[in-house]
Amino acid sequence: MSWTFSRRQFISSSAALVGTSCVPLSWSKSGPARLPIPPLVDGRQGKPIELNIRSGSWSFADFGKTPTLGFSQDYLGPTIRTQQYSELNLHYKNTLTESVAVHGHGLHVPGEVDGGPQLAIEPGADWRPSLSIVQPAATCWYHSHTHGKTGEQTYRGLAGLIIIDDEQANSLSLPHQYGVDDLPIVIQDRTFDAQGRLVYSLYEAGEDGWYGDTVIINGAVEPFVSVPAGKVRLRILNGANARFYIVRFADNRTFHKVASDGGLLEAPVPLTTMEMAPGERCEIIVDMADGKPAGLLTMFEDEFDDEDNFIGSLLNLNKRSGKDLPPASLNLVVDKDLPAHNAPLPRQLATIVRPQPKQIMRSRDFFLTMEDSGVAFDGDGHKNGHAAMDMAINGVAMDMNVINERVQRGVWERWRIRSNQGAHPFHVHGCSFLIERMGGLAPPPELQGWKDIVVLDDDDWSQIVVRFDYPATERYPYMYHCHILEHEDRGMMGQFAVS
Ligand code: C2O
Ligand code: CU
Ligand code: CU
Repeated sequence: MSWTFSRRQFISSSAALVGTSCVPLSWSKSGPARLPIPPLVDGRQGKPIELNIRSGSWSFADFGKTPTLGFSQDYLGPTIRTQQYSELNLHYKNTLTESVAVHGHGLHVPGEVDGGPQLAIEPGADWRPSLSIVQPAATCWYHSHTHGKTGEQTYRGLAGLIIIDDEQANSLSLPHQYGVDDLPIVIQDRTFDAQGRLVYSLYEAGEDGWYGDTVIINGAVEPFVSVPAGKVRLRILNGANARFYIVRFADNRTFHKVASDGGLLEAPVPLTTMEMAPGERCEIIVDMADGKPAGLLTMFEDEFDDEDNFIGSLLNLNKRSGKDLPPASLNLVVDKDLPAHNAPLPRQLATIVRPQPKQIMRSRDFFLTMEDSGVAFDGDGHKNGHAAMDMAINGVAMDMNVINERVQRGVWERWRIRSNQGAHPFHVHGCSFLIERMGGLAPPPELQGWKDIVVLDDDDWSQIVVRFDYPATERYPYMYHCHILEHEDRGMMGQFAVS
């Protein structure tokens, strides 16, 4: 543990409001579930991929069926595979009774196909974006981006993965058998009521956003997955609405991070622990050649109070024996009959070309604020949590009719971001960027690759360099926002045009 971001403590430390309906459900387990692997749909030939936005019912655990949302399935959506220099054609159909916008998070595409809130699909309507994929290999995702409802719709299931391949990445010796040694891993947390229904309320969320009490991986509680006795790639998405996770293995084994949000790192980075903010993706390689099972731990970062305690807790945790550890959220179990990838890890993965200082033509500052508005939300008489917080960036809350920034296409800029309280994952549409500083510090090697989320807090600036290569009109602008979805829905978001 060489480096960690300072803790995300909010100034007023009122605990998240937990309604009386949120009593944790206890269920009897009839043995562990198998990890659900979303079906892979191949979009590389340009054939339109049908994505029906629909309601469903899904078994998260043994407590029966839960009403959910999904894309052409009951919960979440298929994993879409595409390739650099191909056309990805999507065909969304909204079968719900509410409108839904669907954003391709991490995709470098023009604003008119980016899926921001202006592109909401009305009930019964279709949307057929055609996406020219030019960017290199990466793990991206698609999720609801409906005005004021992103948190709720994503929580109910409107999210899925997009895998972009490219020839250079394909030529590297990395595990690449989807569902065998290349696994999609979506970490989320959910709260269920006594009937097994999802509990969610934007207005009852605490100021940190909505935290579920139960971790689910691809929609299952503590599942297992059979893996070959070799190297296994996990494409991990922190798909939680608000929670920051600490990810490690129960036996503290070393793994290698090979890719961040926007694609491959320059070289694999050995780690035993990593933090993941909401919306971030990390591709890691874990070696299962010893045949021993490996438990993936997803610890709640909010349970560690401050930096000292955090590091102290981690050190203690590393010394603890198996029985003291929290239960694994996912268990990798070796099956010797599966074809194993045992080639050594490539020493070099990708070349990252950074801009020269003189190429950076202008800078912008973004100040994220959350203040007690002094006004209780009148909806249901709730007086705390989000209801009484004003969320803004540079003093203004998201307004669909206002373009907050105008950016010149093809020009490098430096953006500095900080907050007046707490840590926030700041996301920018239409690009990948490079982190120069994070909370005033140089980023560690595992965060020096292409990113579309940077964590910031109130101690010091986070700083990125970014360039936009595609247009975004004032009618269909891009967004920048906090990826704590309740902060986003409460206005911690802005719009920008690129021309
Ligand atoms: Cu993943 Cu604008 O969001
Ligand atoms: Cu995005
Ligand atoms: Cu935030």
